[in-house]
Amino acid sequence: MSGRIPIELTVNGRRRSVDVLAHHTLLEVLREDLALTGAKECCLVGECGACTVIVNGRSVDSCLMLGVEAEGSEVTTVEGLALDGHLSPVQQAFLDSGAAQCGFCIPGQVVSAHALLADVPNPTRAQVEEGLAGNLCRCAGYEQIIEAVQAAARFGDGRDARHAQVVEATLGERAATPDAEVAPQ
Ligand code: FES
Ligand code: FES
Repeated sequence: MSGRIPIELTVNGRRRSVDVLAHHTLLEVLREDLALTGAKECCLVGECGACTVIVNGRSVDSCLMLGVEAEGSEVTTVEGLALDGHLSPVQQAFLDSGAAQCGFCIPGQVVSAHALLADVPNPTRAQVEEGLAGNLCRCAGYEQIIEAVQAAARFGDGRDARHAQVVEATLGERAATPDAEVAPQ
């Protein structure tokens, strides 16, 4: 396709071939070419963290990375965190803690929390604050966000074997509470 560069990358465990515009950021590639709109467009200068995704195990501001630079990379977006349609412990903890107000920053916060817990399974409050320092919340819901990350730490980073057990237990509790709802990511 004219003006486009073919790249291959793995997104949320699925191999993808995409013809990207050379000047497009990874954020634009995800949102416009792959229809993954969980990573949000906000400041576009690396200050707010709304666009956070994980690339090769590290959280990055996808607005600061060119799509072509993601050639051959493993990318995880907020859409890839749930397993078999069940929320990860981090997502569940955000829900349980009432951490989402307007919700705009939450995908980036959740992705950063996953990256943090993968590196530091049992972070102190200071480590949570440092790990999420690049994610701004205009609703100032920081206290609930920190609580959610610390609660999630009790269940691991969302990718371990306990995930299924936690989800099972959570779904069991939810089934006993018919009015409970799962907030969208
Ligand atoms: S939109 Fe990327 S850091 Fe703000
Ligand atoms: S919940 Fe509104 S910006 Fe964070």
